[in-house]
Amino acid sequence: MKPRVVTTVEAVRQAVAAARQGGLTVGLVPTMGALHDGHVSLIRAARAETGFVVVSIFVNPTQFGPSEDLSRYPRQLEQDLEICGREGADLVFAPADADVYPPSFRTFVEVQGLQDVLCGASRPGHFRGVATVVLKLFNMVQPDVAYFGQKDAQQARIIRQMVDDLNVPVHLRICLIVREADGLALSSRNQYLNPTQRRQATALHRALGEAREQIEAGERDAAVIQRLLATRIQDTPGAALDYAAVVDADSLAPLDRLRGEVLLALAVRFDGIRLIDNVQLCVPE
Ligand code: PAJ
Repeated sequence: MKPRVVTTVEAVRQAVAAARQGGLTVGLVPTMGALHDGHVSLIRAARAETGFVVVSIFVNPTQFGPSEDLSRYPRQLEQDLEICGREGADLVFAPADADVYPPSFRTFVEVQGLQDVLCGASRPGHFRGVATVVLKLFNMVQPDVAYFGQKDAQQARIIRQMVDDLNVPVHLRICLIVREADGLALSSRNQYLNPTQRRQATALHRALGEAREQIEAGERDAAVIQRLLATRIQDTPGAALDYAAVVDADSLAPLDRLRGEVLLALAVRFDGIRLIDNVQLCVPE
């Protein structure tokens, strides 16, 4: 069964208000569509934990740079609605660009410091667009709980900071990375990969796994781990390293010695197709 689809703020607010009046808590899963099992894991978590599940589908133009893939980003609403229906979502909110960003639009949210490193360094303005649209979605839908993936670790960290800093009344749930059988993290952009690139793309997961093993075996020098990650990608045919980062999971600042919550993060391009992956681990002294 296909879920109900609404496109206006008024309609989504009405549906959410009715659910809340009926005593249900409201879960929101923000997405850009082209849904895969990573998104499904978020919908399932929302379904398990909240009474009324809203999935938003909106390819947000403000988070794409001028030379990025906004125009060719996969749009497959019919298939997405099938998936939402199958997973028991109650409502799909799919607003039009002009409703989210009318010509008079002027206000943006910036999470300073956190937005400029890692993916932010090679995608200037990306997280400003993400933070802005996520706050707008929170205000439009007014969920009790919102679900995000650890796949986009920096995005999750930035949204947590925004919610704390701006006293946004929403609980955040960050869900584990869903992977293909060979370890590749699911992503809507994986469908751009040709079969050769698809095989090479497992290099991200393998490099992160090797780095984790080295840390578990006692390595505490961040530069050694960083070099290992970078070398494994540079040795992969067709792969161009965007960054290999070993950072504090909270501040996203580079580390010298590994201790506490550590984020190992990779961004790699295959002929312009940009893939990211990460591992977060707690490193004892
Ligand atoms: P999108 O790339 O569609 O991802 C929507 C949500 O699914 C994000 O929270 C993302 O982290 C999560 N996700 C993607 N792949 C995943 C995987 N393999 N395992 C677990 N979760 C995964 O992220 C965005 O959209 C946008 O930036 C958005 C937050 C919707 C704002 O426009």
